[in-house]
Amino acid sequence: MKKVKKAVIPAAGLGTRFLPATKALAKEMLPIVDKPTIQFIVEEARKSGIEDIVVVDGKSKRSIEDHFDSNPELENNLIEKHKDEMLKMVQETTDINLYFIRQSHPRGLGDAVLTAKAFIGDEPFVVMLGDDLMDDEVPLTRQLMDSYEQTGASTLAVMRVPHEDTAKYGVINPTKEVKPGLYNVSNFVEKPNPADAPSDLAIIGRYLLTPEIFKVLENTKPGKGNEVQLTDAIDTLNKTQRVFAHEFKGQRHDVGNKFGWIQTNIEYGLTHPQVKDELREYIKDLGAKLTETDKKNS
Ligand code: G1P
Repeated sequence: MKKVKKAVIPAAGLGTRFLPATKALAKEMLPIVDKPTIQFIVEEARKSGIEDIVVVDGKSKRSIEDHFDSNPELENNLIEKHKDEMLKMVQETTDINLYFIRQSHPRGLGDAVLTAKAFIGDEPFVVMLGDDLMDDEVPLTRQLMDSYEQTGASTLAVMRVPHEDTAKYGVINPTKEVKPGLYNVSNFVEKPNPADAPSDLAIIGRYLLTPEIFKVLENTKPGKGNEVQLTDAIDTLNKTQRVFAHEFKGQRHDVGNKFGWIQTNIEYGLTHPQVKDELREYIKDLGAKLTETDKKNS
């Protein structure tokens, strides 16, 4: 069995939910406290044992390339001022095998993954979407890789979501729980109407795929939203080789929308050594103030 060594991070979206911030800045560079969201994804990949990462990017994505490149001027400045901790932090981001492919006409997630075909070649690989940060003792990507080592099959991460939210996700139709948290799937549906959703198990942005997905993607017609959907290609792949769903039991932070992004900043801030104490006090005071205002208004 070939080892999983490569990851694809699609990052060609326009980030319209965060306009005007994303007019000239990649949404993947928006920070959670002090770290760009894409750096969390890269760190998850590295902790999982991924060796090479390709970012599929589009317009206004230069900031991502610059972020993971060296910056001699900044590094020299930090050396002169003996800011060793900061220097280490800056240098860590450059010590990664990171490659970039530009997708000039984004035609959907399936199409973004297809652009990485030559880079991946004939190997199993992972796809990691930047909108979800995943916290667990074992990184979610590693969990998928462990599962692959046992089954040799493509495996996607899923999580239970409120039924009315199924319209925002790819949703699976599970047939059998082959072992705790690992499902056989009869079909995969992209963003169904909640009334038609086959379950509450939603695809959450981590996929381990066999290279046969590329042949399928080449023949996948645009689907929901007139975009080439990865979910549709996976549904087709599942007809010729098993695709499993692995249920994630850790904590997921959706940083792809404003509220989720603010929430994640607060939650991560509460564990950040430089701001946690002040933030905790601030939240307590704010809670008291809001209760008072609510009382006055009622
Ligand atoms: C994409 C996928 C969808 C998946 C979701 C997870 O949708 O198409 O199947 O459930 O990511 O975040 P998007 O959120 O890009 O619209």
